[in-house]
Amino acid sequence: MQFSFATGDAAKSRCEVLVLGIFDNELSDKKKQPKALASIDKKLKGLLVKAAMQEGFKGKAEQLFSFHSHGKIAAARVFLLGLGSRARYQPEVLRMAAGRAIKAANRLRAKSITVALPVARDAEQTVRAVVEGLTLGAYRYDRWRTTNREEQAAPRVEKVALLLPDGQKKEAALVAAVELAQRIATATNWARDLVNEPAGTMTPTILANEAKKMATETGLALKVGDRKEIDKLKMGMFVGVTQGSLEEPRLIQLTYTPKDAEAAARRPVVLVGKAITFDSGGLSLKTAEGMVDMKTDMAGSAAVLGAMRVIAHLAPPFPVHAMMGACENMPSGNAYRPGDVLVSRLGKTVEITNTDAEGRLVLGDMLAYANELKPALLIDIATLTGACMIALGHYLVGAFGDDDQAVWAVLEAARQAGEEFWRLPIPDAQKDALRSDIADMKNSGERYGGAINGAVFLKEFVGDTPWVHLDIAGPSQSPKERGYYAKGATGVGVRTFVELIRRRAAEMEAAAAPVPTA
Ligand code: BES
Ligand code: MN
Ligand code: ZN
Repeated sequence: MQFSFATGDAAKSRCEVLVLGIFDNELSDKKKQPKALASIDKKLKGLLVKAAMQEGFKGKAEQLFSFHSHGKIAAARVFLLGLGSRARYQPEVLRMAAGRAIKAANRLRAKSITVALPVARDAEQTVRAVVEGLTLGAYRYDRWRTTNREEQAAPRVEKVALLLPDGQKKEAALVAAVELAQRIATATNWARDLVNEPAGTMTPTILANEAKKMATETGLALKVGDRKEIDKLKMGMFVGVTQGSLEEPRLIQLTYTPKDAEAAARRPVVLVGKAITFDSGGLSLKTAEGMVDMKTDMAGSAAVLGAMRVIAHLAPPFPVHAMMGACENMPSGNAYRPGDVLVSRLGKTVEITNTDAEGRLVLGDMLAYANELKPALLIDIATLTGACMIALGHYLVGAFGDDDQAVWAVLEAARQAGEEFWRLPIPDAQKDALRSDIADMKNSGERYGGAINGAVFLKEFVGDTPWVHLDIAGPSQSPKERGYYAKGATGVGVRTFVELIRRRAAEMEAAAAPVPTA
């Protein structure tokens, strides 16, 4: 999609669809109505507001009213888009609404739309929310559909004009906001593609190739290791998980290094993504039903890859690394067995009580390896436990960690980015759940506190490094079409990581700036 800015009277905006956001109960309130609505409604002799009211449109979030102008104004159609309560407004409301608008516009086969931006305190945030919502909302995954070719070839929105409210100038900062938003949403859509791709065509090797293409495009450094490399690194847990699969595992490392030598010498931020390209459960086999969606088990690595793609352009003043241990979890004559003891890279030994608790094994080795870089901040993101999904449902990410500052930094970034995270604890008492009779610990405990048990296990591999564990088992997939979400992969995590790195960069630059003298 191409974005441009426009100014002037909404009633004169020539386009196929003019999109207008309306807060709850402000449709017919002459004092609160947006100026653009008042101007259009006047030209339409009050018919727009009247028709909307008759159809029950009030401005509630989720409501969308479509009106044919019959040539009475320059726009062929007007969409009134409910924004819900003004008091509860956040940019995320606009992001979701923009997602609904683009879906409706595409259903109408519109090619160009104008979105009247609401008056806002922070115009950059508003622009970002709209551009992200539109770009994310336009996402479709139809690679494998051979029917409906006609539908796929149908025109879609290509041009979007952002109509600035009166008094708002087209500043360079707004142009930059559009560019950043497009980058973030495109990277998120790419992460969605990686997750939506079936496991048969998103093997560890293919995932590594995707990372390579991206690294070439963005100038990031890339290292890919094979089974031999993983053996050499003594990643006994990673080896255990991958050994039942005929697919070659891949150890994927991406690095962004600042050009400035002083910045390059800083301690890095390291992002570790779970990259199980298919999780059958191994010999502790999942049920048929539980296995269907398990191509989603590399969503953590997709989030990390999507974020790195944007981070390369942000060029923060500190290094950022991404690490992924990619493999499948399969049952076979060669598979690791319940009862086996694996020796991790860190030296700790683990008794396998359930081969379906494979994510923590690969991640444990990856975290220990990542920790050798002495990160200032270490974050892992993983579709780790069904239990987290039981606890928090489809829409919330579970965030764990003992370092309050690190956890808050991530939660703040998530809030700002419009992703919902919820902190969960790692109580010491829960360590009992993973006590083994024969090894240092076992990989799975009782059902109770299942999401916490995963975090307790991972914690053994990060030492005292500020570390945050994100469980995205629930939100990696959307169970239905909603706002800017399509059914299927969400790309959750990309926006939060980008925001986190942006904030960290801004803080560092502010601290480095010379203190102004009076
Ligand atoms: N990949 C799954 C977790 C998962 C479940 C992700 C549903 C997305 C949707 C993970 O490897 C797993 O199987 N976890 C087990 C852990 C248990 C054996 C301790 C689980 O949650 O049942
Ligand atoms: Mn599993
Ligand atoms: Zn898994």
